[in-house]
Amino acid sequence: MEFLKYSENYSKGVNALIVPVFEDFIPVDTRKIENETHVLTIAKKSEFSGKKGESFDTFDSKLGKRILLIGLGKKKEMENESLRRSYSAAFNSVKSIPKGVVQVLLPGVSPEEPKEVTFAIAVAAYDFDKYRKEKSKIKIKSILLTSKYDEASIKEGKAIADAVNFTRDIANLPPSIGTPSYFEEVAKKISGVKVKSFAREDFLRLKMGGLEGVSRAAKEAAKLLIMEYGPKDKKPVLLVGKGITFDSGGISIKPSEGMDEMKFDKCGASAVVGTMKLIAELKLKRHVIGMAPLTENLPGGNAYKPGDILTHYNGVTSEVLSTDAEGRLVLADALSYGTSNFKPSEVIDLATLTGACIVALGNNYAGMMGNNDSLKNKIMKASKKSWEKVWELPLDSDFQDQIKSKVADIKNTGGREGGAETAGAFLSRFVGETPWVHLDIAGTAWTQKNNSHRAYLPPGATGFGVRLLYEYLKGE
Ligand code: BES
Ligand code: MN
Ligand code: ZN
Repeated sequence: MEFLKYSENYSKGVNALIVPVFEDFIPVDTRKIENETHVLTIAKKSEFSGKKGESFDTFDSKLGKRILLIGLGKKKEMENESLRRSYSAAFNSVKSIPKGVVQVLLPGVSPEEPKEVTFAIAVAAYDFDKYRKEKSKIKIKSILLTSKYDEASIKEGKAIADAVNFTRDIANLPPSIGTPSYFEEVAKKISGVKVKSFAREDFLRLKMGGLEGVSRAAKEAAKLLIMEYGPKDKKPVLLVGKGITFDSGGISIKPSEGMDEMKFDKCGASAVVGTMKLIAELKLKRHVIGMAPLTENLPGGNAYKPGDILTHYNGVTSEVLSTDAEGRLVLADALSYGTSNFKPSEVIDLATLTGACIVALGNNYAGMMGNNDSLKNKIMKASKKSWEKVWELPLDSDFQDQIKSKVADIKNTGGREGGAETAGAFLSRFVGETPWVHLDIAGTAWTQKNNSHRAYLPPGATGFGVRLLYEYLKGE
């Protein structure tokens, strides 16, 4: 599906038109369509009034095209998220037109329209159909965007969508295919990004006891992936993503029902790889290091056990009470190695870390914890911009009490109470004084159902984090 800027008349070769209407304003291009077809007048008779979320679908015999009117609410209240929702839903209703050419009119109210609408349509079109004989129903050949705004904005939206879909593609992979080695292979294909990786012998040599312990019974070779992009003139921003390619729970094995979903325990790492690809593609002027501790968490005769004590890269020892609290153990080594060796100006980690975070915040918010208000504020700003929503959870020194161990410095579970926060408290021991934000994306990294109100999020991995990190790194 190609996205083109299109300024000509809508007659030639177009099968369907997507036409925006406000409750209190008719955009210029919409007015032209109305003058020719009276479609708006007709729609009003069927009670279409341009309210947010409304749509009116008709075939205009004079033009010989489908016309889809979409309501955007009040002009002054238009938000990027309502554009994403309305346009992705509209796209979904025309997506099966064979070899279709869809012309998309934009309201002409904000210069971000081409970016957001291109993004929303391109990610709504995503379908993980690689392993299915019945392929995606999308037959659209081109999307013609008619807008008074800059073409560069379409390019940006397309690049963001490509990176989000790329992230989904990795994260959706079955656990025996989306392995640590697979991650390394795809990372090495990103042009402009330098890649190196540590293997088990390096974990032993560098005393990365968390990665060593969790990967002990892994069949697939574990890795700590390190990617670097951008000019080295400034201290880097460090991004760290949890990459458990399958989380069985290990010896503290999970119940079998729903265990398949633990292939998504690599969503943090996938988002970091996707973000590296996006910033390289758009040549962002930022020095960024991306790290992903990658391993499967499996039981076995040689597996690490409850009761084991691991020594992490920074010397902190942790008592393993549950081998299912593995994410914090591998992140500990990545965070301490990254902060002490790269001296980043700030570090942001993304992890499908706790079920407790899902209980606390549901599926629309990631939990945000950290040690620096200014960084948290900037992440919050990027979150509002991208609608990859985050909500702050508390993280003060009182939580440290709950993870004190009798036999080691800390233990890897703090009990049921405040499970997301005690996981955050654990991680805080590995970033030193570096400004740090932890995002628990357990609730937002994938979705099982069709989100009818957010048509740009099809079932499966969502790619959560890529847009948030991109908007954060881009600044503004
Ligand atoms: N990957 C899981 C967290 C998870 C569970 C994410 C369900 C998304 C959906 C993590 O490794 C885990 O198992 N956490 C445990 C921690 C507990 C043992 C302290 C949890 O949340 O139950
Ligand atoms: Mn686990
Ligand atoms: Zn896990």
